[in-house]
Amino acid sequence: MRTKAPRGTYDILPEKARDWYRLEEKAVSLFERYGYARIVTPTFEHTDLFQRGIGESTDIVQKEMYTFEDKRGRSLTLRPEGTAPVVRAYLEHNLSSRPLPVKLYYMGQMFRYERPQAGRNREFWQIGVEAMGAMDPSLDAEVILLLIHYLRDVGLSDLNLHINSMGCTECRPRFISELRKSLGNYEDQFCGDCQRRVKENPLRIFDCKKEQCQENLEKAPRISDFICSSCSDHFKSVQSYLEETSTDFELNHRLVRGFDYYTKTTFEVVSGRLGAQNALGGGGRYDQLVEEFGGPATPGIGFAIGLERVLLALSEESDQNRVHPNPLVFIAALGKESKQKAFTLLYQMRSQGISADTDFQDRSLKGQMKMANKRGATYTILLGSDELDKGVCGTRDMDTGDQQEISLEKCVDWLKQKLREKEQQSE
Ligand code: HAM
Repeated sequence: MRTKAPRGTYDILPEKARDWYRLEEKAVSLFERYGYARIVTPTFEHTDLFQRGIGESTDIVQKEMYTFEDKRGRSLTLRPEGTAPVVRAYLEHNLSSRPLPVKLYYMGQMFRYERPQAGRNREFWQIGVEAMGAMDPSLDAEVILLLIHYLRDVGLSDLNLHINSMGCTECRPRFISELRKSLGNYEDQFCGDCQRRVKENPLRIFDCKKEQCQENLEKAPRISDFICSSCSDHFKSVQSYLEETSTDFELNHRLVRGFDYYTKTTFEVVSGRLGAQNALGGGGRYDQLVEEFGGPATPGIGFAIGLERVLLALSEESDQNRVHPNPLVFIAALGKESKQKAFTLLYQMRSQGISADTDFQDRSLKGQMKMANKRGATYTILLGSDELDKGVCGTRDMDTGDQQEISLEKCVDWLKQKLREKEQQSE
């Protein structure tokens, strides 16, 4: 039996890789425009980083981590998310000595042992940002706006933004105690996991995916009725910045988002085109996390976007979002000398920024033309002994079928000009 990729993982084949590349490229250019700089952290970290950062009683830590011992018996974990590693790196490299807020972005694979389904994988890709060192509500609004801006930029429009405030260390304990008291009255109506959560960490019941538990929460107190005046002012200010930029949002008092590190603002963008796994991206403030890791009091906020879900939503919204590859020039050469010339010509084209390719299978002219067609070439260059003798090459516009002879010397400049004209026509 042939070995297949493990459940919940997949290969990105060349056709798809182009879509991925475009999403990454858009992120780099937009995030840098907003003042974020790239950081790359390891794919695995010490397990306790996630236990402490994400929280012992979260689903991620309890059920979803890929944890293993290395050869020296150290417990390591494939990162299930990017925030805790970025905060670790922030402290380890004393990034707080840089002008604040320190604004960082990252992209890469994350790993969670979840039940795979459309939009849910065990290895998946995230693009995220983290901004550390500022408490200003305009930073919350900027981060939320950046998330929306990115999703719109890549071509999505059916987007709904949900926001909430989770309170802070001052006001949240009062809410949690009320919540525990209230849920305790009908504890037996929750699933086994949630019954445990009532005692350990009742906020985590909001993460439960079981319908029955979600229905039971209808009767529970709402965090919005408990937040202190400082959290409430902060939240109102975030909303007014969003209104200022005509960014629509819905208040969602259930948005607690599966991590213990959140404080104050949380947010999520869902797609109207996806099924159960409809969250494209989400994030929030984590004003205690740096301290939790032994650093000085440092507020932080960020988000992460799931790339697989963005691609799924794009394919649901329109097929116009398909990425068009760079126009290709295909050189069809016949005979040893022509092949030699074609080799140099290819190098010249590629040096001048033209995507170009040729035949490596000794195909007939007909076979090479077929190949050019299959590859979706914009132009084909024909080189045979007749052309070589005359110092020219044949050119064929693959859209219109127009054919011309061009001197070999001018060929690359001619192609550049033609490709530029085609690009302008398609804009
Ligand atoms: P998260 O909501 O767990 O947040 O993940 C962010 C996004 O990653 C989700 O909205 C979803 O699109 C995608 N995602 C999550 N799990 C999977 C999965 N199993 N398969 C495919 N896609 C998935 C975080 O990870 C936080 N670190 C975000 C953050 C940054 N908060 C503050 N800063």
